[in-house]
Formats: sequence, structure tokens, C-alpha cells
Amino acid sequence: MTTSIDFTRNFARAIDLDSHLEEDPGALREFPLMPYGEACDMGHAADGTPLIDPRLFDSPEFFRNPYPYYRIMRDHYPVYHDKLHNCYYVTRYDDITDCYFDDEGFNTIPKGSSSGVLGNTQLELSGIEHRRRRNLYGQHLVGQSLQARIPAIERLAREMIESWDEKAREGVDYIHDHDGVRTVEIGKAFANEFPISVVCDILGFPKEARDRFFYWYNSMMSGLGGSATQKQGLEARQDLEDYLEDIVEQRRKEPTYLYGDNGEIVSKDIISKLCESKIDGDYLSTEEITSNIALIVGGGGETTRGAILNMLFLLLTHPEQFAAVKADPSLWDTAFHETLRHSTPIGGQPRHNTYDVELHDVTIPAGSLVNMVDFSANHDERIFEEPEKFDIFRKDLYSGKLLRSGYRKEGKCSHMAFGVGPHLCPGAWISHQEATIGARILCDHMKNPRINVERMPKDIDGVSLRPMGLVSVGTLWIDFDLEDSRA
Ligand code: HEM
Repeated sequence: MTTSIDFTRNFARAIDLDSHLEEDPGALREFPLMPYGEACDMGHAADGTPLIDPRLFDSPEFFRNPYPYYRIMRDHYPVYHDKLHNCYYVTRYDDITDCYFDDEGFNTIPKGSSSGVLGNTQLELSGIEHRRRRNLYGQHLVGQSLQARIPAIERLAREMIESWDEKAREGVDYIHDHDGVRTVEIGKAFANEFPISVVCDILGFPKEARDRFFYWYNSMMSGLGGSATQKQGLEARQDLEDYLEDIVEQRRKEPTYLYGDNGEIVSKDIISKLCESKIDGDYLSTEEITSNIALIVGGGGETTRGAILNMLFLLLTHPEQFAAVKADPSLWDTAFHETLRHSTPIGGQPRHNTYDVELHDVTIPAGSLVNMVDFSANHDERIFEEPEKFDIFRKDLYSGKLLRSGYRKEGKCSHMAFGVGPHLCPGAWISHQEATIGARILCDHMKNPRINVERMPKDIDGVSLRPMGLVSVGTLWIDFDLEDSRA
């Protein structure tokens, strides 16, 4: 069954509303599609408290308009027991932060997100087992190693954009030139592949394997969560492992390196690093190395793609903020964090409580599925003023260096998009660089960019752009002027 926020597929949540409607047309016709930001009436308790009907979570209305319902939950049911889907939702920022930090009380086992496709990954381990694996390659995604990769990230972005002229001549369906204007679907032309190319580069995948890499990625991602495509996902994972077997054997003997723009050695690539890593004195097996790679690939693709598209969508629909970012490129960092607060590509994370827990007068029996709703935490008005408003100048969002512990000081809080606590996303820093560098180079290239409203999916009035809701922007059509458009 597809649940509202499909937490079992939290890394693959590009759910298309149209196909959801087709697959599940009768689920909840009784929940009318409301004007954005307004909740439909599900009845009231005797004391006037609005009720939540858990069938709502399967409805198209909730997919496109979740925030008024999360507000009802935060205000009246901060721990909501969903008896239909047999799980609990925690929706307030403070409660979620506490639960994430308490990884003994709220563990990540079993998470079910990999369902065999990714293999046995750190995502599904807690405590010491988790810590041992977490440090295997994390340092490659941060600090000086990351700094040294920035020229390569910039080069990859430029190469993709430079290929547009040729692609337009070839007549691809996502780039069209007409009357001095170029119309580009930024997902296909850039954001779908760019993060995967960056990940492929830092892992140290041979260039000739890049095309297969997209097959592994796409098949594994669509195979998560026990869906009909799981078999394809398992096959792709096996194919990846077969492919890696020889590479791993070679790199165990002879590691390979990442090079800087001047040919200097920057560091070993991540595959080579994993080949020499040990847990409890033993080298990782090829299976373990494959699982790590699958997790990095799975964690770093869809998420960063969503961040880039959501950020461009939000900025172009708030032209005064876009103009400010163009005038002062240091604001790209703030724009990135406000995008992740306002519209994070990952809605939340599942946990299982190790023992009975009492929270807001609700007893959660040990072993329950407890969904931490990051979407809702990011829109908690106890933390962020006017949370539905996209505002890169907001005073209450911390957008400096990300801290493992989460940040809360002097009236500023960090967003939850990268999680909090021991499982905090190790790719947070690299995705930040990818998204801001990628978006900046795109916007330097495109003269006078604006959304091509005609080609974009519409909301229920048939006129306004469809809101993101629980789904990141899927396709983003942008027009820009061709003349003198090169930066
Ligand atoms: C905007 C982009 C991204 C978002 C929003 C995001 C979000 C998240 C979140 C919320 C978690 C926490 C999971 C939990 O608490 O159970 C996580 C974990 C993880 N992410 Fe990311 N991520 C992004 C980019 C990346 C990138 C680029 C990589 C790799 C290069 C990556 C690799 C991982 C890994 C390996 C984990 C597991 C960490 C652990 O369990 O210790 N992510 N991510």
C-alpha cells in the first residue's frame, strides 16, 4: 500500500501526482481538493477539536496540500496514532529533535527502506555498529577533500550546460530554440544527471562505466520499497556487485586517486578508500563495499536533484529574492537552506522505539513504527515564523556551518532536511556545494530566466502552478534569452 509519506521509500520519493491519481483513483474521493493552504473538514470532537481521518494520508489532496493538516496534527495531535496504517507520527520540531538524538530509544532497525536492494547499510544500524561504518568514508565528503573537489564539480556543471547547443541541434525533446529564446527542461538537461555524475566522480568509477551507472542508479531507486520494480532493483544491484568485483580486487592491490585541475593527487577515491577500510580488524567484503556504494549513490541522487529544482522553482516564483541572489552570489547558501526548510526533498524518517515510550500522553508500545515528519518540523510555527512563506532573509533560520548536533542559538534554528543526530546526512556538505554551484552556473548562463508557465503542471484552478506538496518539482521548464546569454 502506498502511504501518504511513503517512509519506506524515503530516498525515492519523486511520486508523480498524476500516476498516483491513476493508480488509486477511488482512495478518497471524499477529500476534496482544497484551495492551497486550507484544510478540508473531517469533522470535530465534542470540544471542537478538528478530527483527522487517517484515510486522508492516501489522498491526492494530502499529496498536494499537506501543510494545513500537519498544522492540525502539531496543534492537536503532536503524536498521532494512525490506526489505519498502524504507525505513529511525531510532528513537532522539538519532539523530533529529541527522538533523533535518542538513537537507543528510537532505533533505525528495521527500516525496510532498502528491502535488499541497497544491501546491509549504515542507515539501518544503530549505536556502535552504526558509528563503526559511518566513519569509513565520511571524511571524503567534507572539509579539505570536498574543497579539493570543487573545481571538478564546477567543470561537470559547465560541461553539461555547454552540451546544450549540440543537443538543441540534435533535436532532443527537452531543449527548444525559437525567436531568440531557449526553452529548457532543467531536470532532463541538468538536475537529473548532475548529482549522479558528481557522486560517480568522487567514488572513482571508471569513465567507461558512467552509462551503466545510470542504469544501476535508476533501477535500484525504482526498486526500493518492495514495489513492483523491486526485482529489477535487485538485478541491478547484483549487476553492480559483479561489475565491482574485479575493480575491488584491483584496487585492493593498487588504489586509484582523484586528481586536481593541475594534475596533483587530491586523495584516494572512495572505492579505493573502502577497499582498505577494516571493521573489527577485517577488510570489507565486496558485498559490503557494494552496499556502501549503493547507499552513497541512492542517498546522493534524487535528493540533490530535488534540492536544485526546488530552489530554482522557488527563486523564480519569488523574483525579488532571485534578483537579490543574482546581485549577491553569497546568498546562494541562504537560498539553499531556506529551500530545504520550506520544501525539503525528503519528508521524514522512520524509527522504531526500543521500549514503551510516553509522549504527549500517548503511550507508544515498544517496536512501533514511529514516523518523524521532517516536513512538519520545518513548518513548525513554534520555531519558524510564518513557516509557509519562502523567505531567504528570514531571521530565524540558521544557515551557517551545519553542525552534527543541530543548531539552536540566538533565535536561529537549523532545518531538519538532513536529519539530526547520529544519522545526520554525511552528504549534506557536498550536496550543498553541488546545488549552489550548479544553480549559480546555470543562472550565470541563462539570461533573464523565467518559468515557462504554459509547459508546467497546473493546480486545480488550471491556471496556477501546481504546488510541490509532498513531491519535489519533477519537471522545470525555463525560458531564457539566447542573445548574449553566455556568461
Ligand atoms: C539535498 C540533498 C540531501 C538530503 C535532503 C539528504 C537527506 C538525508 C537525511 C534526512 C538523512 C538521515 C536519515 C536518517 O536519519 O535515518 C540522510 C542520510 C544519509 N545521506 Fe543524505 N541527503 C542529501 C544528500 C546526500 C548526498 C549528496 C549523499 C552522498 C554523497 C548522501 C548520503 C547519505 C548517507 C550515506 C546517509 C546515511 C547516514 C547514516 O545513516 O549514518 N546524502 N540524508
